[in-house]
Amino acid sequence: MTDTQAVRSMLVGIGAYLPANVVSNTRLEAMVDTTDAWIRERTGITQRAIAAPLETTASLGAEAGRRALADAGMAPEDVELIVCATATPDQTFPATAALIQARLGIPVCIAFDVQAVCTGFVYAMAVADSMMKAGQARTALVIGAETFSRILDWSDRTTCVLFGDGAGAAVLRAVPESEAGGRGVLAHALRADGRQAGILHVRGGPSSGGGTGKLAMQGQAVFKQAVTNISEAIEAACARAGIAVADVDWFVPHQANRRILDGVARRLAIPEDKVVVTVDRHGNTSAASVPLAFAAARADGRIKPGDLVLLEAMGGGLTWGATLVRV
Ligand code: ACO
Repeated sequence: MTDTQAVRSMLVGIGAYLPANVVSNTRLEAMVDTTDAWIRERTGITQRAIAAPLETTASLGAEAGRRALADAGMAPEDVELIVCATATPDQTFPATAALIQARLGIPVCIAFDVQAVCTGFVYAMAVADSMMKAGQARTALVIGAETFSRILDWSDRTTCVLFGDGAGAAVLRAVPESEAGGRGVLAHALRADGRQAGILHVRGGPSSGGGTGKLAMQGQAVFKQAVTNISEAIEAACARAGIAVADVDWFVPHQANRRILDGVARRLAIPEDKVVVTVDRHGNTSAASVPLAFAAARADGRIKPGDLVLLEAMGGGLTWGATLVRV
């Protein structure tokens, strides 16, 4: 394969890792003024995993990456590119991707982070795919890893009940287009609107001082735009690939709120049983939620080789987007 040959990025491995500590809604009732019934009714969430004190975004991401490489039957030496999507890095620098590289014993390669909050994994897939198509790498490890529990205000009932920790990873392998058999990453649609930064943010950071702040969200303002934005990105990605939305086998959405998933499905006439839902068990794990949901649907036999799968997300930025892949 030469650098100039047209390639497809095939998804050849998937891995997931969730912390062992599962926190039910009932346990949250003891911490803030909330109820299991409110959380279930407004979000669909029943539980979430929360990282142990010694677990970090890099440790969760490394474990998901290790599992994805094992699933692909590949060794650390095979990896030429690591893209980690996270809004909760272990450190200001180096990148969490580099920390994961060291943990996995991956030799010198390209490694960096992508920061698009909950849309991070969709962005990271597009970045990795584009770099592989440009001949920069033949095997990529794309990771979404988060420890949102560390940036939550645990006294704010309007946000702390929504999020969880976790990591998911995918292995992409460049193959000549002529050998791909129509499989691989087919199209992306990525969007951002920084004018809306204020409705979902964490203040603080090295340049503004004051250390890392806590997550703040105008939930209804985000909610109002979610269905429209996500639906537009899904249609754009499908149009770019020349595929009808109805031909997609599985929708793997960012898991923020069950009502958003249902709203998008209604708007685009997507049958409910084509939508992978894990928000009930995982909560909103930001950049980890799409690969975690993908891994769950692969593990239980729903997503099979040859299926057309659409990944989509919306998050802080605002950012949103969709990726279409035939697995
Ligand atoms: N328990 C009990 N009551 C609560 C809780 C809670 N945990 N949280 C809020 N309430 C109360 C409010 O105080 C309010 O009370 P009031 O009527 O007396 O003022 C009432 O419930 C209704 O609050 P709303 O905010 O109107 O509830 P809503 O139905 O909008 O649900 C939610 C809130 C779940 C946050 C929803 O707006 C949402 O999902 N928004 C989008 C989130 C999202 O998609 N984020 C993007 C990705 S995240 C990222 O990028 C990091």
